[in-house]
Amino acid sequence: MKGIVLAGGRATRLRPLTWVISKQLLPVYNKPMIYYPIETLVRAGIDDILIILSPENSGLFLNLLGTGEQFGAHFSYAIQKEPRGLAEAFVIGEDFIGKDDVTMILGDNIFDEDFSEKIKNFKSGGQIYIKKLPTMEEVKRFGVVEIDENNTVLSIEEKPEHPKSMFVSTGIYTFDHRVCEIAKNLKPSARGEIEISGNPSVSNTFLEKGELKAFVFDSYWQDAGTFDSLLEAANHMAEKN
Ligand code: DAU
Repeated sequence: MKGIVLAGGRATRLRPLTWVISKQLLPVYNKPMIYYPIETLVRAGIDDILIILSPENSGLFLNLLGTGEQFGAHFSYAIQKEPRGLAEAFVIGEDFIGKDDVTMILGDNIFDEDFSEKIKNFKSGGQIYIKKLPTMEEVKRFGVVEIDENNTVLSIEEKPEHPKSMFVSTGIYTFDHRVCEIAKNLKPSARGEIEISGNPSVSNTFLEKGELKAFVFDSYWQDAGTFDSLLEAANHMAEKN
């Protein structure tokens, strides 16, 4: 199992904080944000990790993270020139992934969960990790996953106006190597990105093949991409320490 941390993008929602520094380098209590997703992958038993960066500030990430030795991992780096969508990680990462499976995590997603069991048991297809949120307003900010009573996925929609479910796709995904070919052939969605959860998307392609599983978890999760969620994540980590 290979790992990818996607830490590009422009983080326009966090300006002026992100005019001259990348979101994933901002502090979340006592660590730079990107430490958390890296530690989530390492905790899941993944130690061969590709970190995808935007060209701006990429040198700062290299200075901070180096070879990965301090995390007990080995890091490679790649640049995404423009934020063309989350699924582009699998196009950029094609050579790195090769014939292996891959777990991709977003550089602003903060988890307490230990995913090692679910990732160890991964066989093929796609696997997403979903969480029930308390309010419709929150649900609408994310990829919304409709499931039946056996947790079989019925539909996935990116930021829908009228969500069909209170379960959202968090920013960690496991796929087999076919994800690269699928991502390369994806057409951009209405918002002009190649997507993981929209329509069309990588997850919807695996869903159509009947090869997408969803695992529900209930522990702490935060997408630290807004002022309020960044503050909330920092407070959570401060309390934990
Ligand atoms: O956090 C979970 C959510 O992440 C999911 O529920 C959604 O389905 C998924 O689309 C994503 O939603 P966001 O609105 O958070 O996506 P955003 O465009 O903000 O990108 C997420 C991170 O990935 C962000 O830290 C920047 C980085 N990124 C984004 C794009 C579009 C890249 O590195 N490259 C890109 O091309």
